[in-house]
Amino acid sequence: MSITKEAELFGMKKASEAVACTLKAMRDFAQPGMTTKQLDNYGAKILSDFGAKSAPHLTYGFPGWTCIRVNIEFCHGIPSNTRILNEGDLVNIDVSAELDGFWSDNGGSFVLGEDINQYQKLVDASKQILHKAICNIKGGVRISDIGHLIETEAKKRGYKVIKNLTGHGVGRSLHEEPHEIANYRDRLNLTRFRKNSVVAIETFIITISTFTETLHDGWTMVGNKGGFMAQHEHTIVVTDGTPIILTEKNEIWN
Ligand code: CO
Ligand code: CO
Repeated sequence: MSITKEAELFGMKKASEAVACTLKAMRDFAQPGMTTKQLDNYGAKILSDFGAKSAPHLTYGFPGWTCIRVNIEFCHGIPSNTRILNEGDLVNIDVSAELDGFWSDNGGSFVLGEDINQYQKLVDASKQILHKAICNIKGGVRISDIGHLIETEAKKRGYKVIKNLTGHGVGRSLHEEPHEIANYRDRLNLTRFRKNSVVAIETFIITISTFTETLHDGWTMVGNKGGFMAQHEHTIVVTDGTPIILTEKNEIWN
């Protein structure tokens, strides 16, 4: 969406606060021994305390409230009673929701407890790259140039990017124009970021594979060659200068 009046910015701030605080609280609550369903139920309660409704649930009938991925799962991990979190797991939580007609999206990967499997370097790379990408976004910048920056920064650190998962416009629904904010230079995409538009910028930084495949549950994606992925996502408003980071309360950069 494009912000045209103060009330819309206010609405986006409220929706973003709900998803950001939920993400942060879930990250703090996560413990080894807990199931992903317990963690999801905790997030669902916080969202509902804000009066917000789960976006994947509303949009796709997703069988959960938030998306929780562990280790090799790449996307849309369905919360489960049998998926138990372990010390050192690479966990990703993605929270998106609707509040009073406004939609916001954010996510982040982290290492649970002690980094016994050495995933922290990948997580830090993803955080740093998202930060750099967002700092370079302003009205008039080509979307493909930001994709190029993300891929270049990933390569510098010895990583790759997933090509079929992208950031996207957000605001009046979960996914809207521009539909594809890729993590690489998509030469066919001549679109530029527009001032006052609301977009969800997300990294998909991986150790090996470059495409994702969907598992038999129809939701969970894994890499076509295996490997591990870190994702970090903020919903922002594009300006003439540094973007407004609507989901900054998730503290994914801390
Ligand atoms: Co998103
Ligand atoms: Co998301």
